[in-house]
Amino acid sequence: MTREELKATAVAMLDKAYCPYSHFPVGAALECADGTVFTGCNIENAGYSATICAERTAVVKAVSEGHRDFVRIVVAGRSDDYCVPCGECRQVLNEFAPNIEVICLNKAGEEMALPLKALLPYGFDHTYL
Ligand code: THU
Repeated sequence: MTREELKATAVAMLDKAYCPYSHFPVGAALECADGTVFTGCNIENAGYSATICAERTAVVKAVSEGHRDFVRIVVAGRSDDYCVPCGECRQVLNEFAPNIEVICLNKAGEEMALPLKALLPYGFDHTYL
């Protein structure tokens, strides 16, 4: 899948978001080293803390299907600002793909691309245990 196709895949997931509380849809498209793509959207809950973000939805789908080798993720939002992953999602991505490229989109489809290491310096991992 090309970069533009991956971005379009994440944007398409905005329509799947379940966000009746925040009204802040997020879509994600996670690309594996073998080219497999897993999608995600945020899924909110009346018990707010049970909400899962779009990025973690995609990671959970991928890992549960036997994929752990991630190379890039697109995070799409509908706000003026680029939609960056929350701290918890950064930490979850760091578990499997500390070198992943994170491509953040705004509502215009413009991108800000960063390595995860720039978003999460000194990420906690197994080497600390
Ligand atoms: N959200 C995500 O899906 N990904 C992020 O990294 C940031 C936040 C969702 C969670 C919640 O449903 C809504 O955006 C507002 O926080």
